[in-house]
Amino acid sequence: MSEGARTDEVLLSIRDLCVSFDTDDGQVDAVEHVSLDVYRGEVLGLVGESGCGKSVTALSAMRLIPSPPGRILSGQVMLDGQNLLTMPLNNLRKVRGARMGMIFQEPMTALSPLHRVGRQLVETLQLHRDISRSDAWTLGEEWLSKVGIPDAAERMYAYPFQLSGGMRQRVMIAMVLMLDPDLVIADEPTTALDVTVQAQIFDLMRAMKKKDTSLVLITHDMGVVWEMCTRVAVMYASEIVETGDVHDIYDRPQHPYTSALLASLPVHAKHQSRLQTIAGQVPSPLDYPAGCRFCDRCEHAFDRCRVEHPPVYVHGNRLVRCFLREKELQS
Ligand SMILES: Nc1ncnc2c1ncn2[C@@H]1O[C@H](COP(=O)(O)OP(=O)(O)OP(=O)(O)O)[C@@H](O)[C@H]1O
Ligand SMILES: [Mg+2]
Repeated sequence: MSEGARTDEVLLSIRDLCVSFDTDDGQVDAVEHVSLDVYRGEVLGLVGESGCGKSVTALSAMRLIPSPPGRILSGQVMLDGQNLLTMPLNNLRKVRGARMGMIFQEPMTALSPLHRVGRQLVETLQLHRDISRSDAWTLGEEWLSKVGIPDAAERMYAYPFQLSGGMRQRVMIAMVLMLDPDLVIADEPTTALDVTVQAQIFDLMRAMKKKDTSLVLITHDMGVVWEMCTRVAVMYASEIVETGDVHDIYDRPQHPYTSALLASLPVHAKHQSRLQTIAGQVPSPLDYPAGCRFCDRCEHAFDRCRVEHPPVYVHGNRLVRCFLREKELQS
């Protein structure tokens, strides 16, 4: 696990976030009442099965939800005390990039197909900093090298389509990291990359953390969570179901879903494996049950779980949404 550079200062605070999408089948509640704090200097892992709302949470924090069909129904996203959801767009554009950056799974979300890599790096730098074109060019080139792009000087003249998927991913990572933001949200940042390059990117992210940068790492890879993260938030069916320090989560998972995630990893391989499937189906966001959303897959479920939606029980920095924890934790 990474050394903790975490402070007790909350950098990003998401409160009661609800986000939905209007679809032909009805309203999809992709994120419901999500509250999450990101401390300065920490690496927070956000995990959960496909479709549980991880990316929508991250995109909402950057106010990048496409609307329509998406709608942020309620909530606050506070960065250093400023609500990003109500901030004028002009101010928000300055915050994005300089203060918080996002690394997407699909690099073309962030790159323009029409311009050479060098020009995009230079323009991004000049948008946020008082820097000359030639200095920006040099810095951009340095960052391409730092993220492991060979022949960086030449690549500055390439169009994104002339690069491999892995190279494009690294260009995007360089573009985010070179601005030295306070917060980086990385959504499955290395899935498209080979193992050596993944290691290189994670080294960069670790180095970045020493400067008190906060990182939210969205991943399916529990090995990466163990190695990189100080804290973990587990999502299930549009909600946060558990948060805690990474050691506590691995040693004493409190929500049956977290236990199932960890138990489904091959024995002795929990530090180097992707999430395996858990028996049963995730409920459809078009039709969530009235009670606990995990109860159909939970071996501990009892009558109450089927009819009543469990609230969040909090104990210190541990948070669990499960009736089993009602007695030991206070609501
Ligand atoms: N543009 C969209 N239009 C309609 N529904 C959407 C849209 N984007 C996301 N959703 C829905 O919101 C829910 C949450 O999706 P999200 O992408 O956040 O999941 P995820 O946890 O990131 O999954 P994965 O691990 O596969 O990336 C899903 O039901 C998804 O179908
Ligand atoms: Mg996603």
